[in-house]
Amino acid sequence: MKGAPLVVGFIVLIAVGIGAVTLIAPLIRGERAVPLGRLELPAPGEIRPDYLADGTPVWVARHDDGAVDVLSGFDTHRPSNVGKILWWCAQSEALENPEHGSTYDEYGFRIGGPAPTGLPAYATTVEGSHVVVGEPQAAPPPDAPHTGPEEVDRGRCLGPDHERIWHTFEDWHAWNSPTAAVQAAPEGWILLEAQLALRDGSIAVCALDGCADSVVAANVDPTNAEREFGPLFGDRFIAQVQDGALIGVTRVMPSDAGEPGEAEPPAEP
Ligand code: FES
Repeated sequence: MKGAPLVVGFIVLIAVGIGAVTLIAPLIRGERAVPLGRLELPAPGEIRPDYLADGTPVWVARHDDGAVDVLSGFDTHRPSNVGKILWWCAQSEALENPEHGSTYDEYGFRIGGPAPTGLPAYATTVEGSHVVVGEPQAAPPPDAPHTGPEEVDRGRCLGPDHERIWHTFEDWHAWNSPTAAVQAAPEGWILLEAQLALRDGSIAVCALDGCADSVVAANVDPTNAEREFGPLFGDRFIAQVQDGALIGVTRVMPSDAGEPGEAEPPAEP
């Protein structure tokens, strides 16, 4: 049986070799992972809402020193697992969600509010006047030190008198029939003019004229339906179609100035 260890060793050697070749071959051929987006580089000191190739909303932040970050466009506070997007408030120099007050600095570090983490950033490579976006990285912990003043010293953007920018999804096709959207099954993120409602124990995305035209909002928790859903909180969402349902349902701002301060938001869960 002296030959057995030799045979095992030989097999291990072959397996390691195959694995190494598999990993190295794309590098030898000059292949790289497909980037998630190729976005225009803002001017130093500018932060801009933008979208990855599949429509994922992101923030492109060019800091005063010229460094650039591409940050997730989604608030990390997701009660009931309904996504929310953020606006940039010029007054506070922060990304804010007006619903319960999550705020982040230009690097994605949490400043305050119920956000459980900072904003995940994407891997980036600058190529000329563009930034090439790679894979998302881990989110910073909520207590990672943020830059700039403390939350209480920043003020907040509360309404149209304050200078804010956000993702408008302009030029996107707006689906007003959730059923038609799911049947068409477009790739990536889509924009829906619709409302959320509790139906048969789960949350549905319904047409604005009623739930006769509706699709299940997968992964949305119906537990606090009376507090989290309804016409009070807008009628524009983005989502992705998957297996006959909508996933990643995320409330987005109105296309115009938006008046989320007109009504009291629900208490923080
Ligand atoms: S602060 Fe954004 S959903 Fe609560």
